[in-house]
Amino acid sequence: MNDATATVAAGDPFVSFQEVQKSYDGETLVVKNLNLDIAKGEFLTMLGPSGSGKTTCLMMLAGFETPTHGKVVLDGNHLNNVPPHKRDIGMVFQNYALFPHMTVAENLAFPLRVRRMGRAEIEERVQRALEMVQLPELGHRRPAQLSGGQQQRVAVARALVFDPKLVLMDEPLGALDKQLREQMQFEIKHIHDNLGITVVYVTHDQSEALTMSNRIAVFNDGVIQQLAEPDALYERPDNAFVAQFIGENNKLTGRVESVEGDQCVVTLKTGEKVRALSIGHEGVGSETMLSLRPERVRMGEEAEACDSRVEGRVEELIYLGDHIRTRMTVCGRDDFVVKIPNSTERAGLSPGNEVALGWRTRDCRALDWPEGL
Ligand SMILES: Nc1ncnc2c1ncn2[C@@H]1O[C@H](COP(=O)(O)OP(=O)(O)O)[C@@H](O)[C@H]1O
Ligand SMILES: [Mg+2]
Repeated sequence: MNDATATVAAGDPFVSFQEVQKSYDGETLVVKNLNLDIAKGEFLTMLGPSGSGKTTCLMMLAGFETPTHGKVVLDGNHLNNVPPHKRDIGMVFQNYALFPHMTVAENLAFPLRVRRMGRAEIEERVQRALEMVQLPELGHRRPAQLSGGQQQRVAVARALVFDPKLVLMDEPLGALDKQLREQMQFEIKHIHDNLGITVVYVTHDQSEALTMSNRIAVFNDGVIQQLAEPDALYERPDNAFVAQFIGENNKLTGRVESVEGDQCVVTLKTGEKVRALSIGHEGVGSETMLSLRPERVRMGEEAEACDSRVEGRVEELIYLGDHIRTRMTVCGRDDFVVKIPNSTERAGLSPGNEVALGWRTRDCRALDWPEGL
């Protein structure tokens, strides 16, 4: 991790949403009682499905929308008291709105001229910004003479050229193809690491969030479902929404039979009794969704040694080079997935085989019962 993230826990937050609510129509809240602190130098991603309130939060931070209730604080100042152009925030959006009639260099110089910087300094900064996004030779071109990826790099450069305190990015890579998007993810991350700036990034793409962020706030329905580092979100989801939204998730449903310490016994719909970590269910007798990652499922002999065992029938094998993705019917569901590393004797399976499956209790989480299950 870079130096900037080491400061995450220390001192006052750089950005702070405090009991923020937002309604556009005076009736429905699209952001509900949001509390979120972001440290200086942090790369914080708001991740969630479309309509979950991410852009609204970013707009309130940029000062383009005002909270219906609560406040947003930036570097100790209540944002309502600072006009947008004085907030020192760089912004990049999905549709990189470069000025079409200006050259790339003029686009980059624009935020500096607005700030009344001298000509020599402007030239130097523009050149440095172009180098940072690996376009040192293209300052004289107009946006229309650049590819989509190059235009987006210019948009990133323009957001950074005036050394903003904070950079906001709203789905900035959404319009790019997969390869370019992945390349830009690394570039933006490296720029963040090198400059030590604070970035608040919005995306609906979980792999993008996992790749780039120090921490991720998972949004659904105007509420942060979980705020954690990428590995914690994947390994230790707090609730069924996060378990299903981040990564691939096997869900088994059942009723909580008993609870002992941090573990519980769950009776599955098909009668098997299995063990799981007690995380989000409502106690003995309540219904729960068990969450189990595909790579944590044990098979065959290894399964026999596990505390929790079920039977599975192989439905489909998909060869993916380094592993074999096996879709199975387990406990009446035919969407159970097991990832088998392509190095073991276990790779001799074929559709129709019945196999023993199992898991370690610590790899299985008994969560809440999600809506619509
Ligand atoms: N300017 C607006 N006026 C009215 N409703 C809006 C406006 N902007 C967003 N909304 C609504 O607020 C909710 C959250 O939207 P948004 O913050 O854009 O979500 P996201 O960025 O996560 O897709 C959605 O239901 C959306 O329709
Ligand atoms: Mg949005």
